[in-house]
Amino acid sequence: MTTAALKEALPKSERERWIEAFRQVRRETERRAAPLSAEDQVIQSMPDASPIKWHRAHTTWFFETFLLQPNVPRYQGFDERFAFLFNSYYVAAGPRHARPKRGLITRPDAGEVGAYRAHVDAAIERLIGEAGSAAWPEIARILEIGLNHEEQHQELMLTDILHAFAQNPTFPAFDASWQPPQAATQAGYVELPEGIHTIGHQTDDYCFDNEGPSHRVLVGPVRIARALVTNGEWLAFMNDGGYANPTHWLSDGWATVQNEGWQAPGHWQDCDGAWKQFTLAGLRPIDPAAPVTHVSYYEADAFARWSGKHLPTEAEWEVAARAGHLDDAFGIAWQWTRSSYSPYPGFVACDGALGEYNGKFMINQMVLRGSSLATPDGHTRVTYRNFFYPPARWQFTGLRLADYAERFSLT
Ligand SMILES: [Fe+2]
Repeated sequence: MTTAALKEALPKSERERWIEAFRQVRRETERRAAPLSAEDQVIQSMPDASPIKWHRAHTTWFFETFLLQPNVPRYQGFDERFAFLFNSYYVAAGPRHARPKRGLITRPDAGEVGAYRAHVDAAIERLIGEAGSAAWPEIARILEIGLNHEEQHQELMLTDILHAFAQNPTFPAFDASWQPPQAATQAGYVELPEGIHTIGHQTDDYCFDNEGPSHRVLVGPVRIARALVTNGEWLAFMNDGGYANPTHWLSDGWATVQNEGWQAPGHWQDCDGAWKQFTLAGLRPIDPAAPVTHVSYYEADAFARWSGKHLPTEAEWEVAARAGHLDDAFGIAWQWTRSSYSPYPGFVACDGALGEYNGKFMINQMVLRGSSLATPDGHTRVTYRNFFYPPARWQFTGLRLADYAERFSLT
């Protein structure tokens, strides 16, 4: 079969569909960066956060490294120095610049990063348009990972710039017209009777490798809250001395509270005795009915203990979400679970550098389920496993409670 014939074998509509998907994701990244000046895009407010310019360049490096270099003979890279600057953590992809020092890189400037993106965009679109059908399945596989990867960074762009702006005493707004999503108000708990359920990804749709293999778990009996914990409930915890009473806290959590001087969720500001919250729209009064966000695992766990409840396991969360029992499972706040981030039974990371994507982080972190207000539309799933270290709270992280108190009276 000739190359031309191989190209023919791949329907044009499929190429167009992928080019459109690629453009849509790349556009969304630029849309999120658009309100930010070149100065805004350089700042790195802490080692966990990255500059906006870095996100724009790193997501581009990802496509260049994992899609263009292996699949485009004689590919002309934009700048060979960028591999060092914009590799994040892929040891197999070569040496890289230190993460905590990303904010010290003023060159390339934001304009050059834009040119880098345009260079790679054009090459990717050429590859999609011209790839032979024999090479296409692997190209499509990496392309889909790259698009999902960029969507993850789109979320980080908002949380990282929010954290950066929170350091500014004038509290600048990312978007003065931004409004928080409306939360459901359905109170109460739904009961999950004891039973064996299958969790993990079970369809042909895209998922990250950490969402499988699907497997059976024993869940329940447990009651799980329909609603997310609210700011008003969190204020009650604070007013009851929640941050000052070590009996509510895990030992590591209490040490963190002491070291960090935490008295409230992240991005809360004590304004002459009244708490306000720094949001994407700037400093706003606390809305007691809104779900709490920017709490760490340690805080979520302490709140649950203070409430006489627990955090759900990720299996409990998934079973309840699949059954449609959870309000605001998606779109407001990632929800901490009490499950440590571990491989599912039978999990094997793929070969090569992309095997580093998730698998090597499966230690010392906790799983969050759902999605947040910063998650791009269509990015998440009922099986999606987000993960962060227990003290992290710069993401839009909240919680819902689970109740095991009647466990023994149910029998
Ligand atoms: Fe990345």
